[in-house]
Amino acid sequence: MAEVEVSPGDSSWEITREYHIDEDVGFALPNPLEKLPDNYSAWMDIAGRLPDLIQMGQLRAEVEKLPMLSIDDLQGHKSQRLAHLALGYITMAYVWNKGNGDVCKILPRNIAVPYCKLSEKLGLPPILVYADCVLANWKKKDPNGPMTYENMDILFSFPGGDCGKGFFLVSLLVEIAAASAIKVRPSTLEKLYVIPTIFRAVKQQDQDALKRALDDIASSLKEAKTVFGQIHKYVDPKLFFNVLRIYLSGWKGNPQLSEGLLYEGVWDTPKMFAGGSAGQSSVFQCFDVLLGVQHKAGRESAAEILQEMRTYMPPVHRAFLHSLESGPSVRKFVQSQGDADLRKAYNECVEAMVDLRSYHLGIVTKYIRNPARQQLRPGNTSEEPSGPDSKGTGGTDIMNFLKTVKTTTQKSLLKDG
Ligand code: HEM
Repeated sequence: MAEVEVSPGDSSWEITREYHIDEDVGFALPNPLEKLPDNYSAWMDIAGRLPDLIQMGQLRAEVEKLPMLSIDDLQGHKSQRLAHLALGYITMAYVWNKGNGDVCKILPRNIAVPYCKLSEKLGLPPILVYADCVLANWKKKDPNGPMTYENMDILFSFPGGDCGKGFFLVSLLVEIAAASAIKVRPSTLEKLYVIPTIFRAVKQQDQDALKRALDDIASSLKEAKTVFGQIHKYVDPKLFFNVLRIYLSGWKGNPQLSEGLLYEGVWDTPKMFAGGSAGQSSVFQCFDVLLGVQHKAGRESAAEILQEMRTYMPPVHRAFLHSLESGPSVRKFVQSQGDADLRKAYNECVEAMVDLRSYHLGIVTKYIRNPARQQLRPGNTSEEPSGPDSKGTGGTDIMNFLKTVKTTTQKSLLKDG
């Protein structure tokens, strides 16, 4: 994979093609397919009826009856992503079923074998990841209409009513709002990608161009925070905590599947994979790299967790982040210039990231921490205070991790002088 190289004067760097970053939807999959070839109808039929099948107690039996299908007829990236999404939903539903603790620790070979082969082909783990349930799980109701919540829907659902739709679509819209910074300066006719503009400005020591690009990033991040606010309207905390969260849970650091999941016919021993989480989004990590926010390294550190999350991203996006890391340091350049306006523009970006992360912490308190505490009230002794609910769907010790990430971002602000 080529490094991010920007030659002076080159204003239309093709991140779109090389790193699968779309001009309109950023890291999301543009216009995902909704149908697979007919020979995959058995998968699509189950994936499309999960809440009903679970409620009627028929889901596991239906999955066990599935024919063993080859993945060879899944031609093209979009059909492979749709199949990975459908198999991910089916797998989560099979393992967690009614979400009442009746957990299945073996994934039958008729689904495990094609799922693992497809995962290997896509470079994704065999579990429902953010790249599936958010980035590839959407459609527009009116294809000519806008990318707004009202005009959008998800392709598959878990139990919990519209909670999944709210969580996945709001995450997608936040993602797209933040990623718009990578794209264009709306005021110009010519497409000017912000990242190459930034690197070129640093190379050419062009303070004004850098300042303008940083302003673009700050306003996109502010817009992302506004969009994030829609979560309160569309996602109910009780349904999120008690229902959706269960289906997103993985089998890494999860006491209910302490050894992991056995993928029958693929591996002889159970494997551990973290559940789906927006921590697997590339867009926040992209801005950390660009702004030179360096998370603390060490064993089980925030940096290690964020690095591990990269292994759940599509390989091209992982490569993109890696490639960005070898670009010139914006932070060092801003520091070296001693220019108050430039420093202010840089700090506004860092502040916008801190704001987003503070806001996110508030959301995690509302949607995970508070409902977990309510369950622990006297009379309910079913969970330990440090039990699974102190963990995110990705299996991390959430509050410590998220606070550390936020504090490190805050410490990246440049001081005067
Ligand atoms: C109900 C809404 C949400 C909840 C309860 C929630 C919860 C969490 C949790 C528990 C983590 C810790 C990592 C893990 O366990 O996997 C996390 C990480 C993260 N989440 Fe969310 N999240 C929500 C919405 C979002 C949205 C909409 C976004 C943006 C698209 C987002 C972006 C992130 C990022 C980037 C991280 C990694 C830490 C960081 O870079 O600051 N989250 N989230």
